[in-house]
Amino acid sequence: MAKTTREQSRKKVLDALNAARAMELQAIVQYMNHHYNLDNMDYGDLAAKMKLIAIDEMRHAEMFAERIKELGGEPTAEMAGTPEKDGEAKFIFTTDTGLEDGAIEAYNRFLLTCRENGDSTSVKLLEAIIDDEQVHFNYFDSVRQHIERLGETYLAQVAGTSSATGIVYQGFVDRQGSDGTAAPGA
Ligand SMILES: [Fe+2]
Ligand SMILES: [Fe+2]
Repeated sequence: MAKTTREQSRKKVLDALNAARAMELQAIVQYMNHHYNLDNMDYGDLAAKMKLIAIDEMRHAEMFAERIKELGGEPTAEMAGTPEKDGEAKFIFTTDTGLEDGAIEAYNRFLLTCRENGDSTSVKLLEAIIDDEQVHFNYFDSVRQHIERLGETYLAQVAGTSSATGIVYQGFVDRQGSDGTAAPGA
């Protein structure tokens, strides 16, 4: 069997990093859409947190791009798929839980590709980002379960809450702490 050259290894890593970046770009647009939607429905607290999560994904897209540039590649501007737009709160949180679940699964595969091709810096990058996606998943999934179990009762509690995030220097994960245990409204 032919030996994998350094150039072939670099290409495999770049393809994995660009596939991840394309997933981030889709998530950014989808979560921004959902932020406006939730705000329109007057679910302020859900809207504010959605906005912060979109900002986390922007940071991820940048981190992937920086590593791609460092390796001499070109960061993609294409999205991995068509972002979801409209929908009721139940649909939004079911869809976004699914998107995070898919990202965690894919990024773990990309991490193996990076490891197999000897790129420990990209492995560390993916590890850090997977931790963030897990925090997103946990939050989306808990809202999804609340809506499923309590329906209108839960939504009535968040209706009319503030959607203000103040001046945003940090996304969702940084405000929460990496274990995802911030006070409500943080
Ligand atoms: Fe992300
Ligand atoms: Fe995420």
